[in-house]
Amino acid sequence: MKPLFLEISAWGPYAGKNQIDFSKFQGGLFLITGPTGSGKTTIFDALTYALYGEVSGSVRTKESLRSDFASQKEDTYVILEFTHRNEKYRVERHPKYRRAKRKGSGTTVKKEDAVLTLPDGTVKAGTSKVNEELSRILSIDYDQFRQISMLAQGEFQRLLTAKSSDRAEVFRSIFHTQIYKKIQGLAGEKARALLSEIREITNQMEEAAKLSGEDPAYEEMREKKDFSAVITFLEDDYKEKKQLASEAFLNSRNKREEFDSKKQIFEQAKKLSAETETLASKICSLEEELGELKQKRENIRKKKQDLYSLRDVMDHKKERLGVLKEINEQLERLGQLETEYEEASQEESRQIRRTRMAVYQEWLEAEGEAKASSEKFKCFSEEFEQAECEYRRADDLRKEEQDIYMEMQSAYYACSIGILAKDLREGKPCPVCGSTIHPKPAGIPSEAPDREQLEAQKDRAEKAEELFRKWYEKMLKLKEQKNTAQTEWKRKQEELGEEPEYEGITREEACSAEKFSRQKEENCLADIREQRMKAEGRMRAFREQLESWGRAEELKEEHLALSKELEEYDSENDRLTAENIELETALSKTRTLLEERRGEFEERKKQRAELEQEKVSSGDLENLEGEIKKTEEEREQLAVLVHQRQRALCSLKEKQKKKEKLEESYGIVGDVDRLLSGNNALRLTFEQFILITYFRDILKAANIRFVKMTGGRYEMFRSETVTDARKKDNLEIEVMDYYTGKRRSVKTLSGGESFKAALCLALGLSDIVRNSAGGIQIEVLFVDEGFGSLDSESLEQAVSCLQELSGKNRMIGIISHVPELSERIEEKITVRKKNMGSSIEKL
Ligand SMILES: Nc1ncnc2c1ncn2[C@@H]1O[C@H](COP(=O)(O)OP(=O)(O)OP(=O)(O)O)[C@@H](O)[C@H]1O
Ligand SMILES: [Mg+2]
Repeated sequence: MKPLFLEISAWGPYAGKNQIDFSKFQGGLFLITGPTGSGKTTIFDALTYALYGEVSGSVRTKESLRSDFASQKEDTYVILEFTHRNEKYRVERHPKYRRAKRKGSGTTVKKEDAVLTLPDGTVKAGTSKVNEELSRILSIDYDQFRQISMLAQGEFQRLLTAKSSDRAEVFRSIFHTQIYKKIQGLAGEKARALLSEIREITNQMEEAAKLSGEDPAYEEMREKKDFSAVITFLEDDYKEKKQLASEAFLNSRNKREEFDSKKQIFEQAKKLSAETETLASKICSLEEELGELKQKRENIRKKKQDLYSLRDVMDHKKERLGVLKEINEQLERLGQLETEYEEASQEESRQIRRTRMAVYQEWLEAEGEAKASSEKFKCFSEEFEQAECEYRRADDLRKEEQDIYMEMQSAYYACSIGILAKDLREGKPCPVCGSTIHPKPAGIPSEAPDREQLEAQKDRAEKAEELFRKWYEKMLKLKEQKNTAQTEWKRKQEELGEEPEYEGITREEACSAEKFSRQKEENCLADIREQRMKAEGRMRAFREQLESWGRAEELKEEHLALSKELEEYDSENDRLTAENIELETALSKTRTLLEERRGEFEERKKQRAELEQEKVSSGDLENLEGEIKKTEEEREQLAVLVHQRQRALCSLKEKQKKKEKLEESYGIVGDVDRLLSGNNALRLTFEQFILITYFRDILKAANIRFVKMTGGRYEMFRSETVTDARKKDNLEIEVMDYYTGKRRSVKTLSGGESFKAALCLALGLSDIVRNSAGGIQIEVLFVDEGFGSLDSESLEQAVSCLQELSGKNRMIGIISHVPELSERIEEKITVRKKNMGSSIEKL
């Protein structure tokens, strides 16, 4: 990490915005100077806050970062641009602070925030994200960073005078030696686990080797945990016990065989005695059974005799039953005839309905015809009235035209006379009457028609006459037709008569039903009626005949009773016959069984007599049983011992093998663990050894400057005193004083000497870190104060040493208000302290 640019605003003693361009100091050493309390150390704090979001908590708090000098408008923030592994980063952070509201009165709290811009331009926002990313990038945490990049005011000599364990902690995190500690831990764990397994298996073996009835020599071997000897001993013992066990087994088997054969004889005799007893009792009960069966047979025989005595009466009754059966059949025939008659009656009713339907339908048809006639009559009447009307009109027209013609004819003739009279001359004879005197000659009328007009009118009069005749004839014809239709209608009306009224047949039904022919249905009805009457006749004739035999119910009852009685008689007869057969069978069976049992009984008796000759008593069996028990116990005890030894041997051998393997593994792992855990010539743990190696290198690097700075008087060494590795105080520093030729503790150095030693140590550490592969690249070092304790020669030595150190790849910033330093170091940042807040003077 190498800072390039820092901007702080309203930060600590700084009221406004202040910037430092570190790129100008890339060449090496620079000085930050200014009076006490001006804000020099604040520059570091701002830089570390920018990187880690933390301030040196022991001294300052994050809440006090905002400058009390700042105006309400100023924001508090820090911007740091830096390079790391040749890549450029920019981080901006705002601490949490309270400021006045931009609008209105009152205050508001600005939350802590951070933004990190990565080399590829990616932006990470948010405090935790930025912290996480920067820790990953820089590889070290805040405390480690402060340790190696700042020789901070007050904490300056901490690394030098720190306890060995604290120093070890710093190195551990810087050089990541935890991994060695982890390896060390793992080896220890593995070794402990193996050891515990070996112990466990040893305990198991000891447990497995425990036997009942142990030999004292064996017990000693076992307690000594000499398992090889234990196994050899057990192998011999096992063979011996096994031999004894097989002998005991044979002995026990022979005894048992003897016992079994005697027991069999004893049991057989016992069984036979029990069987003969059972058979005797069975024979007794069979004999009783036979007696009972015979008694039953006698009873049946008597009952059969009783039945036989009733035989004649029964034959007579059977005859009567025959007669009754016939009557019964006839009664059944009557029933059939009644059914036939009933069916015929029903058929007749159905046919009556069909016939009525036909009659109704015929009436409906006639009604339709009457209606049609009425319609026809109405139609002719209307036509006649119309013709009559036309006739009258034609008559009027005819008369009118005739009158006109007559008038016109008169006028025409009058005109002809006037024309003739016009030429009359007195004294000359009239061509009509011959008179020569003409007292009143006819004049010529003024409106007389001419001939053509007269002819036309004549024509009209003739046409009107013709029309009149036509209508007259039509009227006469229609009158005749109307009268005929009326006569027809009246006749049909008279023929129709009243509408039939049948129960159960409506007009609608008659209309919608299928068409029936009246004639056909009436014929059919006549046939059915005949059938019904015939059935009725047959039925009556039958009834009359039956009535002569008696009342049907009584006859039926008699028939039933007699049938029942005869049936019972027959069934009793059959039952007795069957029972007799059954009894005979049972009797024969019982007899056979009795014979068999008697035979068996004799047989058992004979066998028992034979067995009794062997003479086996229950006492003999008891004695033998006791002997068997004893030999069996012996055998079992030996078997247990054999099994125990066999099991112990098997388990011990298996565990021995396992143990040998474990011991083999532990041989290697244990050595490694001992070596790593400090159980070695150096009395160092693995991690301490690594740390010491680093420490030696650090001291070596530190001494190059330290010797020079102290004019060759002092050199730092690690304390070689061999102490207990577990105390972990192997990073103690001693100084060799070449003036005295003796080593002493570093704590005995003066203030100025301590400053030099601490400075050299910090620089040495920084060198080793930089050089170690994969180490941390920190390319800036700040040395905050301490120079005041040096005399001018020492100051000269320290500055020249720092000058040598600084260069292109490392910036060293000295913070001091010592005036000599200001004269010696050209590159500087001056902090001015005013009562309105501090400011950084522009270079
Ligand atoms: N929030 C704040 N507002 C204003 N001034 C503050 C604030 N916090 C701290 N200060 C002042 O800032 C100064 C601290 O600055 P700093 O420690 O950087 O001084 P310095 O230059 O290192 O002094 P020295 O030479 O004594 O070490 C002190 O005077 C302190 O009182
Ligand atoms: Mg200071």
